[in-house]
Amino acid sequence: MNKKIAESMAEVVNHQLTADDIASLLEKPKSSELGDVAFPCFTLAKRWKKSPQTIAADIASQLNNDNIQRVQAVGGYVNIFLDQQKVTQQVLSNIMQAKQSYGTNQTGMGAVVLDFSSPNIAKPFSMGHLRSTVIGNALANMAEKNGYQAIRINHLGDWGTQFGKLIVAYQYWGDKQAITASPIEELLKIYVQFHEEAEQDPALIEQARAAFKALEDGDAEALALWQWFRDVSLVEFQSIYELLGIHFDAFTGEAFYNDKMMPVVTELQEKGLLVESDGAYVVEMEEMPPCLMTKTDGATLYATRDLAAALYRQQHYQPEKIFYVVGNEQSLHFKQLFQVIEKMGYAWAKNLQHVPFGMMLKDGKKMSTRKGKVVLLADVLAEAIATAKRNIEEKNPHLPNKERVAQQVGVGAVIFNDLKYHRLNDIEFSIEQMMNFEGETGPYVQYTYARLCSILEKANAPAEVMTFQPLGEQAWPIVLLLEQFPKVVATSFDQADPSQIAKYALQLARLLNKYYAQQKILADDEYQASRLALCSCVAIVLKESFALLGIELPENM
Ligand code: ARG
Repeated sequence: MNKKIAESMAEVVNHQLTADDIASLLEKPKSSELGDVAFPCFTLAKRWKKSPQTIAADIASQLNNDNIQRVQAVGGYVNIFLDQQKVTQQVLSNIMQAKQSYGTNQTGMGAVVLDFSSPNIAKPFSMGHLRSTVIGNALANMAEKNGYQAIRINHLGDWGTQFGKLIVAYQYWGDKQAITASPIEELLKIYVQFHEEAEQDPALIEQARAAFKALEDGDAEALALWQWFRDVSLVEFQSIYELLGIHFDAFTGEAFYNDKMMPVVTELQEKGLLVESDGAYVVEMEEMPPCLMTKTDGATLYATRDLAAALYRQQHYQPEKIFYVVGNEQSLHFKQLFQVIEKMGYAWAKNLQHVPFGMMLKDGKKMSTRKGKVVLLADVLAEAIATAKRNIEEKNPHLPNKERVAQQVGVGAVIFNDLKYHRLNDIEFSIEQMMNFEGETGPYVQYTYARLCSILEKANAPAEVMTFQPLGEQAWPIVLLLEQFPKVVATSFDQADPSQIAKYALQLARLLNKYYAQQKILADDEYQASRLALCSCVAIVLKESFALLGIELPENM
């Protein structure tokens, strides 16, 4: 809509401003009495050395377009009133026709690689990994909606010196049966024990180093243990991904790059980028500490593996972009990584983007490992699902498939709570708050959707495009918001910001509930079909918004 208005306006101003410039200046007036769209004339006033009032009056007298009903100049602004009938007709028929593909665009060409979730083997799935998982998955869905092919990669932390420690710990204190029954809990236990005992007995550290060296050299026994730790951990991670409804295209963790690192180190050397520093090798950085590539014993590091991974992905997928959805505490690591790639002379370094996020807090404090005491994501999800179950028992005890709905609501609440704030904010974790049916929550939107489904089911809602009756001032803001969806899809992806979609869905649900409170949808009058069509469209767009966020919407709850 704004685009068309901007195009008409560009003609009126003789293309002194492009339609894109104008579109970016268009505003939503403070109150609906001032129209639906406003154009501030101050930029033009400066350029043309005329008063904004004169320019506004000038434009207002000439501006014309199919969707515009009238135009008014008020104090330097051109205020535009849209033709509600025409716009409603256009927006609703677009949605009824496109259904779930409303808002889809084909801007994206090629692939986008998303590196997200990436938990560490033999360690609990932390809240930070939860954040990465839901943000990364939403971005992947958003990439697809914008026409890209999304490649979801889990860069598992499955290599590094900690595996030497784990192998030694297992050889001393490991209990095969216990580990099989509850892998991550047991592996964490012996890992913590290793650190405690190593304080008394530093020889353990030496043994761990040797064990990791054996692993890197391909020692069969060490490899078999490592493989086992990895397999049992993955089973636990998979059950979490299943609950969250998230899949990956590849579980290419750090270990995957073992045989791809030597060529990379050689390339760094040939390009004259490796500098010796006390027996270790680093790449010098501009305005940053040097990036360590190999240790004194020749062992490679996290950064080396990330470098090999980036080169491999570029070659293998030829992506337009690579996103790394990782907490902001790793910002320096990614800055260094990107600069190394730039120094290697690769122009595609500019396609790499770190997508950082803040922490998850509980009572204002970081939720994390302290001495082996951790908040387990699996427990958190279980608690959210149990709360949802209690709510259902209380409010709707006869609901069919309660288990499934409780899962959708509990998991949806956790995901939505994570995505509704800008990712850089630290977020407070409170099950009670995120489950509140009246708050700004996932369940609130889910509940609105279920209500819509029940109305649409009761009435014979029109499924086809039709001629809409005007629905009046109360429905108008809903139509305007529906019209905005395609733009939100594009902008939120450009800014790697799923919270824009979450906020959009909240606002749409809120407007619909307001309308619903004021207007009987199922009144038997000539407007009923149009009201039902409006409800269908809202249901479609809510569902699609939540699909982008990776949250399911039950039809009954
Ligand atoms: N496993 C790492 C961690 O838990 C995250 C990996 C992120 N991805 C990457 N390519 N470095 O901190």
